[in-house]
Amino acid sequence: MAVREIVKYPAPLLRLKAKPVQVFDKTLQTLIDDMFETMRDAPGVGLAAPQIGESLRVVVVEYTDDEREDARPKKYVLVNPEIVRESEETVTDLEGCLSVPGLAGEVERFEAVTVQAKNRFGKPIKLKASGWLARIFQHEIDHLNGVLYIDRATRVFQPTPEEMEQIKD
Ligand code: NI
Repeated sequence: MAVREIVKYPAPLLRLKAKPVQVFDKTLQTLIDDMFETMRDAPGVGLAAPQIGESLRVVVVEYTDDEREDARPKKYVLVNPEIVRESEETVTDLEGCLSVPGLAGEVERFEAVTVQAKNRFGKPIKLKASGWLARIFQHEIDHLNGVLYIDRATRVFQPTPEEMEQIKD
């Protein structure tokens, strides 16, 4: 396992449509482990493979909306994820991105989404998410399509430390 360098805006690699994973081999397991390690080191709650220089459709998320102090964050691995359902309701909130350091923006997202994907071993999974988790999934899946939150944000600005606290990505 290794902490990898995070690719920063405006690197062209962040703008590519990432390729689907075909083989669930040892190389993929190492990539996923490196993504978790890099995300924790940053720290962040979500990371897409293009952010460490691999143009592949892989997302990792580590997050819980349980606010108790001893709550363990949940780990998610999404390989070749697709959003298959979106709520009618949308929510606008602050987002940041490890690839766009020092900035934040207000982004409108679906309040809830259903995601179909494969797990790290190629098994099909289906996840329903709402609130922040749904936001994180949408932000990370955007990365796989070369889309950054700054493309969607109505306002991008340098956040104060208090505003930075609110930003979970
Ligand atoms: Ni991001």
